[in-house]
Amino acid sequence: MAFRSRITGTGGFAPPRVVTNDEMAKIVDTNDQWIQERSGIKTRRLVDFEGAMSTGDMAEQAAKAALERAGITALDLDLIIVGTVTPDMRVPSCACIVQQRLGAKNAAAFDVLAACAGSMFALSVADKFIRTGTAKRILVIGGETLSVITNWTDRGTCVLFGDAAGAFVVEAAPEDGPGLVDTAIYSDGNTWQHLYIPAGGSKQPLTPQLLAERKDRLIMNGREVYKIAVRSLVDAAEKILAKNGLTAADVGLVVAHQANLRIIEAVAQRVDIPLDRFVINIDRYGNTSSASALITFDEAARDGRMKPGTNVLMLAIGAGMCWAAALYRA
Ligand code: UT7
Repeated sequence: MAFRSRITGTGGFAPPRVVTNDEMAKIVDTNDQWIQERSGIKTRRLVDFEGAMSTGDMAEQAAKAALERAGITALDLDLIIVGTVTPDMRVPSCACIVQQRLGAKNAAAFDVLAACAGSMFALSVADKFIRTGTAKRILVIGGETLSVITNWTDRGTCVLFGDAAGAFVVEAAPEDGPGLVDTAIYSDGNTWQHLYIPAGGSKQPLTPQLLAERKDRLIMNGREVYKIAVRSLVDAAEKILAKNGLTAADVGLVVAHQANLRIIEAVAQRVDIPLDRFVINIDRYGNTSSASALITFDEAARDGRMKPGTNVLMLAIGAGMCWAAALYRA
């Protein structure tokens, strides 16, 4: 029997602390108008201070909500895949931390690193395990504490990011019912230098000097990332629709990584899908990297927008650059 991956439960978690643009203006030379006009962000949610709440902590909360909505327990899980660039520790994986917290002792667990596209890469991997019959119930998580890798003296990046985690329970379901129709993942390693963290890996192990120079923090060429994001997401959207015999008019809902409202608007215009079909929450959460697509899907799943039969187009892009598309029939 052929299987398809059905998302049977979703969960999202963001730390309680809401940080406004006016508060950001006390940290760097910026203002509410610039941030809103250039990015669409009004507030973001941040862990209280570095170390107060980790990616694993947030992932655990999102996962518990997703398991409850799916009506299964952690013991039912075969696999846990976490997309993150901010695991609790360098070693082990965040997925193993989550496994311990949940008591998911029957699962294998590992992380994938595709930055803001990490959760969609994880979803694509999960789909392959389900389709091959290798796993029946998988927890897919995107969790990120971007505040710990943000350079809080760089106004070009620090105003954009937020902390959060999202989770999906993905289960094997009949091929002809609701579920993931297709996924596609892409990378272009020639563009990595537009978004990266120079130090803290094997190339430049941390030293006091590198830390003082904040080389353990994200560096982004915003204009280049913007252009690549629009071009790549449009291309990925058009390819996955064409491959599956659909047109833009068939798409009922778009769940896209919330990096910048202007990127979303540009993609909407070029793919020719009205903006009101895009689920938007960047105004409240900012860019939460790999958590973004999952908390956005979770929001739409819970507020009734995801009616049975709806074709949902999912899109994400992040450092690497890596990008992904998925088609889901609700
Ligand atoms: O998750 C995937 C990764 N990230 C992204 O997808 C982000 C992609 N890029 C972007 O979203 C946009 O490029 C940004 C929002 C980061 C920046 O918007 P922009 O329209 O590309 O602005 P810019 O970088 O060209 O900067 C325009 C001006 C500059 O001043 P000058 O040189 O024109 O005098 C910046 O110094 O805005 C200045 N600026 C700021 N001003 C006030 C940059 N950041 C700020 C700030 N507040 N926070």
